[in-house]
Amino acid sequence: MIVLGIETSCDETGVALYDSDAGLLAHALFSQVEIHAEYGGVVPEIASRDHVRKLLPLINQCLKKAGLTRHDIDAVAYTAGPGLIGALLVGTAAGRSIAMALGVPGLAVNHMEGHLLAPMLETEQPVVPFVALLVSGGHSMLVEVRAIGEYQILGETLDDSAGEAFDKTAKLLGLGYPGGPALAKLAEQGDAERFSFPRPMTDRPGLEFSFSGLKTHTRNLWLKSDKDSKTQADIAAGFQQAVVDTMLIKCRRAMQHTRAQQLVIAGGVGANLSLRQTLQKAGEKYGWKVTYPRLEFCTDNGAMIAFAGCQRLMAGQHTGPALQAFPRWPIDQLPPIGAGGS
Ligand code: KG4
Ligand code: ZN
Repeated sequence: MIVLGIETSCDETGVALYDSDAGLLAHALFSQVEIHAEYGGVVPEIASRDHVRKLLPLINQCLKKAGLTRHDIDAVAYTAGPGLIGALLVGTAAGRSIAMALGVPGLAVNHMEGHLLAPMLETEQPVVPFVALLVSGGHSMLVEVRAIGEYQILGETLDDSAGEAFDKTAKLLGLGYPGGPALAKLAEQGDAERFSFPRPMTDRPGLEFSFSGLKTHTRNLWLKSDKDSKTQADIAAGFQQAVVDTMLIKCRRAMQHTRAQQLVIAGGVGANLSLRQTLQKAGEKYGWKVTYPRLEFCTDNGAMIAFAGCQRLMAGQHTGPALQAFPRWPIDQLPPIGAGGS
């Protein structure tokens, strides 16, 4: 079965073709980062309009790469939430229309489930049950995955997501948008020990995160500093270290709590090398297997949506014809795989 995947939840237009037998056939991505950079953040209306412009050419490009025609498509999976409503509606309308025109099933995919399953696009796949650290621009959570489709949220952020914390801190340090990768790059040259940073919510039990205090602490440090480039790099390094340490502490707790043997890292912040290396080392120390997607599949992409859609298609699920998108769509409200129509 060949599934066309469409991702338009935020500022990346992603398209992919996934074959249930042969795996990923082709994928293509257009990032709107440069378009939004001049505004210092994503402008929803501009994002929607650009998805309209890029989506169909990207689908054609993807079909060409895979040596297929649209008649080879057996199902269309599209991100229906969570995300920016206008942006989601572009992918949802396109996905449903293509499915209807081709007479094939359409599948509304949850973006966070896409992120969570992205490591399964790799040859070394995580095996359920596992704990997933899902850290993106919109969400930060620890999820217990008992089976594909059976998700229990163990803890979430009470305020900013990890990605937001990276982006806002980067903006404060004058690093532009999107800040996460730029801050991570600068942190490589900094001394993480020069300033002290809190490890939020680690002094009390629980698996919740909170990053807004850390952000305020960083702002105060920066405003009181000489704002030279060494200080900028040292603050970036200290901030990143604090986020990574906090995640390590919470992941360890989640692993102990669930007695899971496997940890999956996914979502845009999962591209952070310091986070990957730290959790990898922790895995070696505590005997967990740690898996994550390749870097390009940590951030938004069409491949994870095609894959997630394919899992649900294979389980006999598909979505009715109504055009529906959901700005909020908690991952623990998804129907289990094998539960029939969604
Ligand atoms: O998953 P994603 O592409 O979009 C959402 O679903 O939100 O995540 C984007 C987030 C942004 O906040 C971006 O700054 C962050 O992931 N990010 C990083 C890195 N690469 C992307 N944060 C820290 N270090 C990175 N290397
Ligand atoms: Zn995402």
